[in-house]
Amino acid sequence: MVSTPPGYPKVAMTQQSLLDETAAPLVPTRPSLKKLTEAAAGCKACPLWKTGTQTVFGEGSPKSEVMFVGEQPGDQEDRAGAPFVGPAGRLLDEALADAGIDRSLTYVTNVVKHFKWEARGKRRIHQKPNWSEIAACRPWLDAELAVVKPHVLVCLGATAAQALLGRTFRVTRARGRPVESSLAPVVIATVHPSSILRAGEDRDAEYSALVSDLNVVAKHIVESRAS
Ligand code: URA
Ligand code: SF4
Repeated sequence: MVSTPPGYPKVAMTQQSLLDETAAPLVPTRPSLKKLTEAAAGCKACPLWKTGTQTVFGEGSPKSEVMFVGEQPGDQEDRAGAPFVGPAGRLLDEALADAGIDRSLTYVTNVVKHFKWEARGKRRIHQKPNWSEIAACRPWLDAELAVVKPHVLVCLGATAAQALLGRTFRVTRARGRPVESSLAPVVIATVHPSSILRAGEDRDAEYSALVSDLNVVAKHIVESRAS
């Protein structure tokens, strides 16, 4: 048993020791995307490195005006080692194209960089990362933000939005318009592209709503070029 100093409740100590295990000590002091990708490849700051095939770091130009942040790599991303290359990624590509945003001029990443899954038969079923995994992985995202310094930061889905904008943030209520945040000059949340893949008969309407949120993103990218 760890002894608790006088005046400190035992539970606070336990929570603190959980919070202390993050990727922070691995982040290089003068990071570039290349150095970050190399350092993150060996990250074991949370248990997800054991089940994921590899670290899936963000991808894109360090000069990108816009950064998209998803939840975590999926099955195909885990195998390929690149973010948003599976079904959700293809839907994102299509929606970006419809909004006139060139993916090659964007930076795409996730709040958690290893795939969390559970076996069901031969399939690997996605599982939501928990708060300690998100907190452990956060230094990588903060370092990506510090290097890329995007004008527009886009949270894709509730996990990214709540990780970056607070646990009470509701995408359904605040999607598609800039929200108060110090993370970037313009911060916008929208749904996760995979929610559209699951939307059933609402799919067309949900897809149009995503494109309309991305049109707002496109408008802010154009404004940043003008200023
Ligand atoms: N879903 C995500 O949130 N990120 C990916 O990279 C792929 C699917
Ligand atoms: Fe490190 Fe993030 Fe992978 Fe956890 S999920 S091991 S913190 S890179």
